[in-house]
Amino acid sequence: MPLVESSPDGATVVLHTRTGSYAVRLDHAAGAVRPLHWGEPITVAAAAELPLWQPPYDMAFEGPYDGSEDFPFDGGRRFGPRALGIRYADGTGGLDLTITGHHLGPDTLVVDLADRAGPVAVHLHYRVAADTDVIERWSAVRHTGTDQPLELTDHAAAVWCLPPRDDYRLSHVTGGWCREGRLHRTAVPVAETTLTSRRGMTSHSANPWVMIDDGTTEEENGEVFSAALAFSGSWRVTVLRTHDGPCSLLGAAGHDRVTTPLPPGTTVTSPVFAAQRTTGGFGAASRAWHDYQRRRILPHPDEDRPVLYNSWEATEFDVSETGQRRLAELAARLGAELFVVDDGWFGARTNDRAGLGDWFPNPARFPDGLRPLADHVRSLGMRFGLWVEPEMVNPDSDLYRAHPDWVLHLPTLPATEGRNQLVLDYTRADVREWALSWLDDLVRSCDLAFLKWDCNRPFTEARPQSWIGHALGVYEVLDRLRERHPRLRIEACSSGGGRVDLGALARTDQVWTSDNTDAVDRLSIQHGYGQLYAPETMVAWVTDSPNPLTGREVPLEFRFHVAMSGVLGIGGDLATWSDADLATAAGLVGQYKSIRPVIQHGDLYRLTGPEATVTASAYVAGGAAAVFVWRVPGGPAETITLPLPGLDPGAVYRDATGRQFHGAGLRSTGLPVTLAAGPMVSALVTLERA
Ligand code: GLA
Repeated sequence: MPLVESSPDGATVVLHTRTGSYAVRLDHAAGAVRPLHWGEPITVAAAAELPLWQPPYDMAFEGPYDGSEDFPFDGGRRFGPRALGIRYADGTGGLDLTITGHHLGPDTLVVDLADRAGPVAVHLHYRVAADTDVIERWSAVRHTGTDQPLELTDHAAAVWCLPPRDDYRLSHVTGGWCREGRLHRTAVPVAETTLTSRRGMTSHSANPWVMIDDGTTEEENGEVFSAALAFSGSWRVTVLRTHDGPCSLLGAAGHDRVTTPLPPGTTVTSPVFAAQRTTGGFGAASRAWHDYQRRRILPHPDEDRPVLYNSWEATEFDVSETGQRRLAELAARLGAELFVVDDGWFGARTNDRAGLGDWFPNPARFPDGLRPLADHVRSLGMRFGLWVEPEMVNPDSDLYRAHPDWVLHLPTLPATEGRNQLVLDYTRADVREWALSWLDDLVRSCDLAFLKWDCNRPFTEARPQSWIGHALGVYEVLDRLRERHPRLRIEACSSGGGRVDLGALARTDQVWTSDNTDAVDRLSIQHGYGQLYAPETMVAWVTDSPNPLTGREVPLEFRFHVAMSGVLGIGGDLATWSDADLATAAGLVGQYKSIRPVIQHGDLYRLTGPEATVTASAYVAGGAAAVFVWRVPGGPAETITLPLPGLDPGAVYRDATGRQFHGAGLRSTGLPVTLAAGPMVSALVTLERA
């Protein structure tokens, strides 16, 4: 069956995903693409007979299409959030779009629209991400005239309209620095609810995805509609719920009032706003998003992410070649496969007040450059990586002294500093060329395997084009750098998890999840992260106890078990670890490597919520499973029994001690797991098909 089909009259188009169908009607009279069906598989003949949603009263006060069209524009009786609005130089605007054609490809639908009133053409793109539940949508707007400059006041990627349900509930995450990924689940009000970043970057405060259910969905049971915007600049996602029923999701680059100039002859293309309908609860929705990232987003989905060591918490800015060599030797002893020197290796960067922008090894710290350290790391059997922050500059730097005009600034306002730094303007071609050139030299000269690409402040005093254009400039530099260095791997970071989105993940390999490495706090941060993003992108370090940020003392094994449930890293000051701890750590690193494919490429089952007394997650792949259990409060020794939904009911599984379990029993009654007495106890049970 083709993935995209249309009815003989061309008015009805159906897109088929792995498990369902999405059908639209091309409503020529209204100049609108209107949703017909988003659910179980449907034939095009059946879809052609479906009626369009009608408002209960067609009164002059109502917008007949509000909440029930795929790309509502500023024109006619439309009173909801707009996917497209324009403004001419004289301040007027308004559109009268009409459908002028449509084209079907093997996995695509493009609907063409043109403005009867002015020089605007619009192309609505739909693409089925084959073998997934996801449909990708984006829009391109073209100025077809030769004069009359105009700007886009609104330009969404897409609007997804949900089928009628008795109720709607929104799941999303909020956060802040060191407290990312807090999951919220609340009724959708009859209103416009906007999640947004006005920071020029994805942000810690909100993340560009939503999940909607009817209020009854559970972790492993029920229908979920979800959508995620693939963009790393300012953004917004608006959930509209109208009094009469319809509920829709608008996703756009740029926050409110960010306008985009559209000179004659040019086209502006939005990022992708991808969406899926799944059954099988929130767990299945998350797994389907992970699967989509593996099939369509991540550049190297099949690669095992290396166990890394990062020196930041051990040294902060106190970086020396001798100290790094010592840490590298200890990291190698633990089994680390990648050694990353964090901030403080370059320019006059001995604290966060100077040197950012001067990307040459600090001559006092590395008199012979970085090559000797890099070679030493490689001689220990590890790859070598470096931290960089290419979008930023300290005013106290040679770069800023040479190019004060390269930063985001407005002529009449003082430039606001954040962490003593300013933002370089990546909408400028000269800034992008400068970045690419030194990054290219650095990767080449040290034969770098890895970069941690950081971005440690939001934007202020930005001109309108930076809120969207900066991120596009960063994408360009990342894409070109990767093209020149196909073996280079990149970790996205923005003071922890401030730049996590499908746009960043399309050009990086993993994400530094949070600057908070307290294993107890991490449980909820990682729970929120995994709602959308795949475990092989979630970097987690084992650091010192007491934790330098929170002061909490956490047993080594608990710290490991939390970090082992993503991409394991070590970030502690190993020079202060006892021999016993180093030996325990080496054993746990070895265990991680043996189950790494299951964790990094398997299916994640959240067995509890993050607030439960005992929390647990299971990873399942190819006949093997890894089950993590954590209990934070103190308690007696106890055996708890955890049903494991992901296992094969017909198979027999064996744990590391040789105990055997039937899959059907593990699914229904569960796996018994014994926890020791005391606070912060954890367990890891591995299962293999017998
Ligand atoms: C940010 C990152 C940290 C570390 C520091 C270095 O906060 O999130 O991991 O790299 O910058 O300055």
